[in-house]
Amino acid sequence: MAVCFAHLTDIHLKKDYATSTMTSDFGKTGNPTEKFLSAVEKIHAYENLDFILITGDLIHEGDEADYVFLKEILEKSFPDLPVILTLGNHDRVIPFRKVFLAEESEEPYNRIHEVNGLRIAILDAGHRPAAGEISDGQIEWLKDQLKVPAPLGTILALHQPLITGFPLLDTSVRADFAEILEQHDVIAIFSGHIHFTRFDFYGNVPHFVAGGMGFGAGISPNRIVMNNHASFNICRIENRKPSVVPVLVTPVPAEAQLFVIPEELLKKPQVE
Ligand SMILES: [Fe+2]
Repeated sequence: MAVCFAHLTDIHLKKDYATSTMTSDFGKTGNPTEKFLSAVEKIHAYENLDFILITGDLIHEGDEADYVFLKEILEKSFPDLPVILTLGNHDRVIPFRKVFLAEESEEPYNRIHEVNGLRIAILDAGHRPAAGEISDGQIEWLKDQLKVPAPLGTILALHQPLITGFPLLDTSVRADFAEILEQHDVIAIFSGHIHFTRFDFYGNVPHFVAGGMGFGAGISPNRIVMNNHASFNICRIENRKPSVVPVLVTPVPAEAQLFVIPEELLKKPQVE
């Protein structure tokens, strides 16, 4: 059985960007909320999704009103799908918890979800300006949650990648964390934060980083520059194997020939 989901990250929503810390940057790269709404339109074309995953930087340093704004958009956009959220370094846990969970708490947001047999473990890697941090306490909590295998396995989702290609940006975590994930039923890791699409292995576990939604980042060996690229990933887990396809939102691609795929080619042949 396959489980499919859209993985978005770094949507950086805000009701009003006039006073944001990156107002002039957003002036050049485009309004993040508009990009997110364009992505929602594209996601609606995928009829087989089981859930939506958004791995943090939900709100760009906003307050309660901004989280209400996000909640309303999500409820309107995906009334029939579970939407699973992690928090990023630009999020604020107190207003998030108040709006989404009706809780007064500043505790890091770690959670376990299960959708159609796939377990989704959420870790909050904190609010340090650059790299994330996972504590030994979080690892003990996670080990406890993973004691009993899930029917279709587990994916781990957190904002800051465990591995980025830039050692300073790698999440700080104890050295045997990859082994711990491998010893349990973790089949893939999904992250954001760096605003460009990246695939790697963390130990032996596939690690997918989605491109940013609010803005993108172009990299060369020694520099990272913000740009107007926005994308998300369509992900599928089948027989404990992940596949990921990036979907571009902006810049709007120039189109040439169109190939319509016949219905029968979209279906997998049944093997007797
Ligand atoms: Fe971000």
